[in-house]
Amino acid sequence: MKVSVFYDSKSNNTKQCAEWICEGAMSVEGVEAKAFNIAEQMDEVAEAFGKDSKCIIIGCPSYGAQMTPNMRNFLFSGLKSVEPAGKLAGAFSTEQFSHGGSTLVIQSIQVSQVTSGMLVYSGGGSKGMPVIHLGPVAINNNVEKFNGIENYKDNFIVYGKRMAEKACELFK
Ligand SMILES: Cc1cc2nc3c(=O)[nH]c(=O)nc-3n(C[C@H](O)[C@H](O)[C@H](O)COP(=O)(O)O)c2cc1C
Repeated sequence: MKVSVFYDSKSNNTKQCAEWICEGAMSVEGVEAKAFNIAEQMDEVAEAFGKDSKCIIIGCPSYGAQMTPNMRNFLFSGLKSVEPAGKLAGAFSTEQFSHGGSTLVIQSIQVSQVTSGMLVYSGGGSKGMPVIHLGPVAINNNVEKFNGIENYKDNFIVYGKRMAEKACELFK
């Protein structure tokens, strides 16, 4: 069972979160998870891995409380190359200010996933603590000194595990 994580990232916060999701997904027996930067790594290897994946998770920083232009382009074109229809889908985001931007980014990605025929999932409150409503968010420490993405590491690992478990349940 393969799980793909496609992300946009310039300063590596979202990349780090993508790697934590892979770590959590790979804690599930029989799961192979890989993360790909949509601006730098969308080659034949990434496309083939994405096509073979039953679960596709997408991550993006908040830019002005919206997804990045790279991600918008990816959702309209690159995503098709991994044949998303019928696959399990999830979304996550990173941001600098804890005031809603990433939530909107996750919602926007999930709208694209639904309209691509994907099965959007997070686990929500059904899995106990931590409750992850739409998808995990990490806030960096650029401005809010009490924040930092390391604070959110465990949420991303558990989210990756929950997504992989659901993919196995649905598709194995
Ligand atoms: C052009 C630009 C716009 C941004 N706008 C916001 C914003 O509106 N709200 C916010 O919380 N963070 C904003 N950020 C900060 C990023 O969302 C945050 O640093 C994120 O973790 C970057 O992800 P990355 O390290 O994976 O590139 C912005 C960053 C850039 C470069």
